[in-house]
Amino acid sequence: MNKLRFDILTLFPAMLKAVLSESIPRIAEEKGAVEYHLHNFRDNAEGVHQAVDDRPYGGGAGMVLKPEPIFKTIRQVVPLAEASPHMVLLTPQGRVFNQAVAQELASKPRILMLCGRYEGFDERIRQGFEWDEISIGDYVLSGGELPALVITDSIVRLLPGVLGDDASSEEDSFGTGLHDGQAARLLEYPHYTRPVEFEGMRVPEVLQSGHHGEIAKWRLEQARKRTEERRPDLLGG
Ligand code: ADE
Repeated sequence: MNKLRFDILTLFPAMLKAVLSESIPRIAEEKGAVEYHLHNFRDNAEGVHQAVDDRPYGGGAGMVLKPEPIFKTIRQVVPLAEASPHMVLLTPQGRVFNQAVAQELASKPRILMLCGRYEGFDERIRQGFEWDEISIGDYVLSGGELPALVITDSIVRLLPGVLGDDASSEEDSFGTGLHDGQAARLLEYPHYTRPVEFEGMRVPEVLQSGHHGEIAKWRLEQARKRTEERRPDLLGG
């Protein structure tokens, strides 16, 4: 199995560790599909205070991440593996993340992500490397750690062998290969488990019928209806 290596540069490795050591991200690592390497760039900051940020030239509120500790850390981390990493900078100024981007990234052998904090990065960090700048949506978070986790989670569940059933990531909302071999982008159909009746609400008869053709048809109809109602933009409408 090809192993995808993540190198994540952060000032808060514990935030990442907490999530990557649970559930699917953890299973992905246990199964040998991924490796997570966390690097705190404060370790490469100079002086007694090991400052990683400083006041902005020209004035204004907030602090800016200094270039030296980040450049130094990237230069240490890149040679740690053979493959040259796909470099991801987490920023609200980046291209907006979605399932297609997750799929694109899932095909890389190695991904390096830089999580920012404070007001932003010194612009020379942008200039110094070839970044794929990614935003997870039009809102501002306190740093790149949550975006890095969102992106990592959505990638690792796409890797072969990570989910028990290879079809299940495809069938999720936003997966591409839905039913009938349709290349669609639909929200998921409703799911039910036992009991057959709960507080007066019943499982639709068709799902209890055992008729696989009818069930597939019903699910596709439901997925279309749901998408039309909630996210008509996904249908190109
Ligand atoms: N850093 C702060 N907000 C962000 C966002 N929405 N996406 C990516 N990185 C960020």
